[in-house]
Amino acid sequence: MKNIRSQFLFALVACMSFLTSYGQGNEKLSDAVDDRKMEWFADAKLGIFIHWGIYAVKGIDESWSFYNGKIAHKDYMKQLEGFTAGKYDPASWAALIKESGAQYAVLTSRHHDGVALWDSKQGVNTVKDTPAKRDLVTPFAAALRDNDIKVGMYYSLSNWSHNDYDEFTREEKRYDIKEEPKRWERYKKYMFGQIGEIAENFNPDLWWFDGDWEHSAEEWEAPRIRELLLKKNPNTIINSRLQGYGDYSTPEQGTPIFNPPAEYWELCLTMNGSWGYQPLDTAYKTPYEVIRIFADMISMGGNLLLDIGPKANGEIPGEQVHILKELGKWLKKHKEAVYATRKGIDLHYFYGPTTLSKDRKTLYLFVPGSPQKELVLKGIKNKITSVSVVGTGEKLEFNTKGAIDWAKYPGISYIKVPNRVIDPYMTVLKVTLDSPLELFNKYGPQKEGDKQEESH
Ligand code: GLC
Repeated sequence: MKNIRSQFLFALVACMSFLTSYGQGNEKLSDAVDDRKMEWFADAKLGIFIHWGIYAVKGIDESWSFYNGKIAHKDYMKQLEGFTAGKYDPASWAALIKESGAQYAVLTSRHHDGVALWDSKQGVNTVKDTPAKRDLVTPFAAALRDNDIKVGMYYSLSNWSHNDYDEFTREEKRYDIKEEPKRWERYKKYMFGQIGEIAENFNPDLWWFDGDWEHSAEEWEAPRIRELLLKKNPNTIINSRLQGYGDYSTPEQGTPIFNPPAEYWELCLTMNGSWGYQPLDTAYKTPYEVIRIFADMISMGGNLLLDIGPKANGEIPGEQVHILKELGKWLKKHKEAVYATRKGIDLHYFYGPTTLSKDRKTLYLFVPGSPQKELVLKGIKNKITSVSVVGTGEKLEFNTKGAIDWAKYPGISYIKVPNRVIDPYMTVLKVTLDSPLELFNKYGPQKEGDKQEESH
């Protein structure tokens, strides 16, 4: 009984610490985040995450399946024999990513299972240990760069398969790093070696670390990792999973409801419920649902890192291709409301997602589904000079009522959205202002840039 209870508590604590570190988007970040190098990231809005590894052979959870005891480690590793990458075409992957409208991609160069997708000098890799016999990363990074897409590398600090790594499965720990410091040093040598290879071979624009929750910054030597990467490329961007030494926050799966506190952040999200290829998981979000989440994220100033999980032969499943293509069509039409914009206004002013141009003179309203009778936009102190439909330019009728002294009582603007302009996924309207946006904020919370109105 005691045993069961302690196991349960252990699982609960493990799960909670996982959620607190990765669920919220409020992780501790470096205090030296350079805004200039972050600009492309803040402008990019959409990235594609790619979970590709031997787990696609059986279509089971990436690494976690053996960690959680769903499959024995040796059977998990047998998947090496089935990983052919036979139809892998990096150029067509990059072309599809381009078509989706994404500006960056992040590939799992090595997950917690320890299988490197490049010709690593250390440990297990796809060149010497699988029938693929190929370095899968080099040609992909090149294809991305050919398409002007930024190159991101996912790298798991932990490697549950490595004999010098302390953690093996949820039930089994190999050793305690305090008792065997030399062994831990050996692991770090391996890990730093691989990080160095990735930096040298692919010079990533972005590093997407994972698995940091198992050790402290000190144990990982996180400051040294950051220093090494920035020395190699001062403009490289590092995600938050480096125990306080990253540049941007990474809420995972759980769509933030309120603005995450970090200046820069990105929601990573699966299309169904699985990161890697799992044919049994057919619970895909529809393209509309993905677009809707995307609009919510950019409205709050974040990016979306949308995941795909290619098959073991390198094919991208049809459902995933469909979502990427639909998203791409929608983005192509609405690009001006998306790329290089900044977070929009609070939902109290407009009941839907919004973005703002960098000069704050254009406000974009995202209108999902069929139009309401009239859209309502409140509390805008500036004069609205026009309202038009993004993608077609058609001007719409609007009427601002109740504006007495504009700055004091800004009134309410009503916008008619005729059926003919409705986009099948989400219509976007462009509201042009005569000057940089100022919001009426009589009773609301004091926000940066908003002056509190005096009450009368
Ligand atoms: C989690 C999981 C991992 C997945 C990652 C993506 O940290 O450990 O399997 O790759 O999330 O965000």
